[in-house]
Amino acid sequence: MPIGQNTETAARLRCIACGASPDDAGQDFRCSACGDLLEFFFPGWNLDQLDGAEPRHHPDPAALKALWLNRRASHEALDQSGVWRFRELLPHIAAEHAITLGEGNTPLYRLPRCARAAGVENLHAKHQGMNPTASFKDTGMTFAASSAHERNFRWVACASTGNTSASMAAYAARGNMHSLVLIPEGKISWGKLSQALDYGALTCQLRTDFDGCVRVLTDLVRQKPVYLLNSVNPYRIEGQKTAAIELMEQLGWEPPDHIIVPGGNLGNSSAIGKALIEMRELKLISRLPKLSIIQAQGANPFYRSVREFGGKKLEPMTAYTLATAIQIGNPASWKKALRVLDATGGEVEQVTEMEIAAAKAEIGADGVGCEPASAVTLAGLKKLRRSGFVKPGESVVLILTGHLLKDPDFTIKFHRGELLSGTSAENAAAEAISLQRAPVVLDADLGAVIAALDAAERNS
Ligand code: F0G
Repeated sequence: MPIGQNTETAARLRCIACGASPDDAGQDFRCSACGDLLEFFFPGWNLDQLDGAEPRHHPDPAALKALWLNRRASHEALDQSGVWRFRELLPHIAAEHAITLGEGNTPLYRLPRCARAAGVENLHAKHQGMNPTASFKDTGMTFAASSAHERNFRWVACASTGNTSASMAAYAARGNMHSLVLIPEGKISWGKLSQALDYGALTCQLRTDFDGCVRVLTDLVRQKPVYLLNSVNPYRIEGQKTAAIELMEQLGWEPPDHIIVPGGNLGNSSAIGKALIEMRELKLISRLPKLSIIQAQGANPFYRSVREFGGKKLEPMTAYTLATAIQIGNPASWKKALRVLDATGGEVEQVTEMEIAAAKAEIGADGVGCEPASAVTLAGLKKLRRSGFVKPGESVVLILTGHLLKDPDFTIKFHRGELLSGTSAENAAAEAISLQRAPVVLDADLGAVIAALDAAERNS
C-alpha cells in the first residue's frame, strides 16, 4: 500500500531564505546556494498561489478528518502510530521503510491546580513525554529515521542534550542501523544517557557544550556517510508536525487561543507552527492559535534576538540552565521559529531557574509531571498572564516535551531543598518551599508513621 502523497501532492524541498528548491538535500541539509535551512512544501496543495482562491488539489478537510479517525480502529502498525496516521500531510516514505514504535497518541490532560496558579480557567497539557522513549522527539524520529532507512544508510548520528539521542538510538536499533551520539560531557541527565547506552548507540561524550557537539557533527557528516538526525533534517520537522494535528483532533478541531512551547534548538516550535499554518490553509482549522516560545533565562538567545534585535539577528551565547535539555546557545532553527511567531502572533518569554523548578513541582502536583525543560511552559504562562498577553478566559495548551523520570536528580534535589542552594535564586525560594515534599526518614515504627501522617494532615 503506498503511503503519503500521490505525485500531484508530492512534497518538495525549498530553502527558507533564498527559495531555491533542490531535488535532494545534501548531507548537512543546508541550501547549497546560500547555506540556510531547507523545509518541505507541498506544491500540489497550491497553497502558495492561494490568495483566497480554492487550490486545485485541496485535500477535502472533512474526508481527511474521517480517514484519520477511522485509522484509530485499524490494526495496521502505521495506522496505529500517531505520526503515520496523518501521512497525507507528510512527505512520501515507502511503507516498507517505516520504523515505528507506536509513537504519538499522547494524552491531553486538564491541569486544574496549575490553572489556578496561573490565573486561567481553561488549561491543558499535551504530554509528549508519553511517547515510547519518553520525549516528543519520537514523533520526528520515526519519520526521519525511516528516511535514513529508505536511503540505505548504515549509520545515523546526532548531537544532543539527551532526548534526541535517546530517541535516535531506539529508532536506529529498530531499523537495524548503527547510531552515533555526540553529547556534552556532564551536561545531560543520567536517564537520557542510560537510554542511548541500552539502545546500543556509540555514545561519545565530548568535552564541550551542545553547540560544540553540533559543530563537530556538521563537519563529520560532510566527510563520512552518516545520516544527520538533528532537527535541521526537515523530515524531523515533518514528523513533529503531527503533535499539533493530533492536538487539534483531540480538541474537536476547535483551536485553543494559545499554545506554549519550550524553546531550545527551536525545531519543535517550528514544527508545531508549520502544522498550524498548513492546517489553517487546508481549512482543517478555521483560525490560528497564538504560539508562544519560552526559554530559560540563562539560555535565551532567541528571546534576546526578538526583544533586543527585533528578530534581525541572533547572537550566539554560552548557555547555562539546570533544564539541561534546553541548554543551547546557538539554535539552528531560529529563523523558522521567528516566522511562526510572526504568523501566529505569539510571544517570546524567558523564565528563571526558580520559576522553572516551582512550575515543574506544580505540574507534578496535578498528578502529571514533566522534565524541567517542559516546565518552562507553565512558568512562561504565568508571566504572559501577568503581562496581559494571555487573558483569564482564554484557553491555553502547554506542550510538555519530556517525562518526569527523565531527570530524577533535579526532582529529588528540588524537594530536598538542594537544587539552588548556594545560588542567588536561593533567596527567592519562599515560593518553592511550599511545593517541596522531602522524603522523611523514620524508624520502622507505627507510631512514627502515624505522627508523620497527622503532621501532614495538619499542614494540608
Ligand atoms: N524540551 C525537551 C525535553 C527537549 O529535550 C528539548 C530539546 C526541548 C524542549 C527544546 O526543543 O530544541 O526543538 O526547541 N532537546 C534537544 C535534544 C536539543 O538534543 O534532545 P527544541
